[in-house]
Amino acid sequence: MAIVVIRQDNKLDAWKNALIANAPETPVYSYLEEHPKEEITMACVWKQPAETLNLYPNLQCIASFGAGVDFIFKDQSVPGNIPITRVVDPVLASDMSEFVLASILGFFKNLNDYKTDQLNKIWAPQEYKRISDVTVGIMGMGALGEKLAEDLIRNRFKVIGWANSPKVIPGVDVYAGNNQKNKFLSRSNILVCLLPLTKETMGILNNKLFKELPKQSYVINVARGGHLVDEDLLEYVNNGHLAGAGLDVFHQEPLPVEHPFWNHPKIHITPHVASVSDIDSVIPQLLENYRRLKEGLPLMNEVSREKGY
Ligand code: GLV
Repeated sequence: MAIVVIRQDNKLDAWKNALIANAPETPVYSYLEEHPKEEITMACVWKQPAETLNLYPNLQCIASFGAGVDFIFKDQSVPGNIPITRVVDPVLASDMSEFVLASILGFFKNLNDYKTDQLNKIWAPQEYKRISDVTVGIMGMGALGEKLAEDLIRNRFKVIGWANSPKVIPGVDVYAGNNQKNKFLSRSNILVCLLPLTKETMGILNNKLFKELPKQSYVINVARGGHLVDEDLLEYVNNGHLAGAGLDVFHQEPLPVEHPFWNHPKIHITPHVASVSDIDSVIPQLLENYRRLKEGLPLMNEVSREKGY
């Protein structure tokens, strides 16, 4: 039994070394080095190249390094019958919540405008919004959505949620399913997308949805670029229905230099940094699942292939 680490960014060695440091008796390989393919039982992955996960005849688990697994389902070469797990981690959830809080408050207090004004030596006070002025609507009430709701409520926000199926969350009106979506949207002055990316949610942030939001709403997408129809957002920001948007994720990352979001005064972009898996916090759950595999026990945080999350 052994682990292979597959990711194409510059964090490959850091994750591999951390796995080794925390489980010195476990063979851990980088996918880039020579390694015995038939020994690999667990693949820890983040945006793997195609045709890598099918190289391991004895693979028993594909573990995402992040909360999302959409990149695994997108890869046609991934074998169809192997359990897939994702990260569910309190640090990931609190990082996300802090980021969204910062994004909402930055919008309220016009901080992005003042930075631009500063660079142009312009002194231009604006009116600002208060927490008591708005209701925040969270789309996706999983681990991240729930933590965000809890923190927003602690900060005196009115919070509503939208989920696939009915849920009880203290202090939050949770609307469920497509029947209740428009009711939810009509109350959301700030809309935060924290949905998993699936066939059902692809392109969900589109002009039909924006139309249902109250005038001057602000849209925050910290889930996946695939949720958003870029042209529809531009249309609704440019026609004044939306006050703007904060986007951390994009169809193509890095965002291509010619993309209109770069220069748009009301669209604020960040380079997919809202919440990044913390190595120290996440390693124990990866190794716990490796132990469970060895002992034939059920895995933690396994995703449903049917639902796609
Ligand atoms: C980040 O985008 C994640 O899925 O953890």
